[in-house]
Amino acid sequence: MLVLGIETSCDESGVALVDAAGQGRPRLLAHALHSQVKLHEAYGGVVPELASRDHVRRIVPLLRQVLGDAGRTLDQVELVAYTQGPGLAGALLVGAGVAEALGAALQRPTLPVHHLEGHLLSPFLGSPQPRFPFVALLVSGGHTQLMRVHGVGRYELLGETIDDAAGEAFDKSAKLLGLGYPGGPALARLAEQGRDDAVALPRPLLHSGDLDFSFAGLKTAVMTRLRGFGPAPTPTQRADLAACAQAAIVDVLVAKTLRAMKDSGLPQLVVAGGVGANRRLRQQLDAAAARRGFVVHYPPLDLCTDNGAMIAMAAAMRVQAGLAQARRGGSFEVRPRWPLAQG
Ligand code: KG4
Ligand code: ZN
Repeated sequence: MLVLGIETSCDESGVALVDAAGQGRPRLLAHALHSQVKLHEAYGGVVPELASRDHVRRIVPLLRQVLGDAGRTLDQVELVAYTQGPGLAGALLVGAGVAEALGAALQRPTLPVHHLEGHLLSPFLGSPQPRFPFVALLVSGGHTQLMRVHGVGRYELLGETIDDAAGEAFDKSAKLLGLGYPGGPALARLAEQGRDDAVALPRPLLHSGDLDFSFAGLKTAVMTRLRGFGPAPTPTQRADLAACAQAAIVDVLVAKTLRAMKDSGLPQLVVAGGVGANRRLRQQLDAAAARRGFVVHYPPLDLCTDNGAMIAMAAAMRVQAGLAQARRGGSFEVRPRWPLAQG
């Protein structure tokens, strides 16, 4: 079964083709991505209207590219999957509209996919693949969640952020340091040049005894420290603050994840979402895994952030698990706010 995946929830247009034969492992045939970083850079963040318009421009050329790379034709596509939410309403509508139009024109079923389920299952695009059940740390721009994943579609929420997401903490700290958008990778780069013990920053909820997170206070602490440096912080002070902010975020993520691993007794951890690309987070989780004897699975580095491959993969896995409620024509909707799992 040839599955087309379309992702347009935020600032990346992604298209991919996955081949899923019977119950065999779905295989990524090709994927293409257009990042809107340059488009939004000047504004210091994503401008929703510009994002939607750019998705309109990009999707069809990306689709042509993917079909060419995979050596397939449009009429061979058997299922059209797309991100239904969560995300920016206008941006989601572009992907949903294109997917539903393709489905109608090709007379093929469509399948709306949850963006976070795409992230959660993205390590199945790598090798070796994880095996159910596992603990998942989902760290994207808008979500920070620990989950017990029993199987496809069976997601038990263990803990989540009560305010800002880890990605937001990276982005907001970066903005305070004048690093612009996208903040996470920029802060991580600056942090490489700083000392992670130069200034004391809080580790919110570190000892709360549960698996919830809180990152809003960290942003305030970064702001206060920055002001303490006076009107013109030196490059060293800025790099130190970046290193300390990154260390604070990563420390909390790692501590809570280790607690979840211990509580669950499961031998596998999956880390997914944009912050999963962070090198310090990966190093610390890998070191802890080696010490404690569990295995960590990440998606391939270029598939940590948003992409169409994870949407096609999640769709293929839902079909194989007998969970897909494929649609045929009719009206459709997007779900800008949509929880993946309940506790
Ligand atoms: O999963 P994602 O691409 O989009 C959402 O679904 O939100 O995650 C984007 C988030 C942003 O907050 C971005 O700053 C962060 O992931 N991010 C990183 C890194 N790469 C992306 N944060 C820290 N270190 C990185 N290397
Ligand atoms: Zn995402």
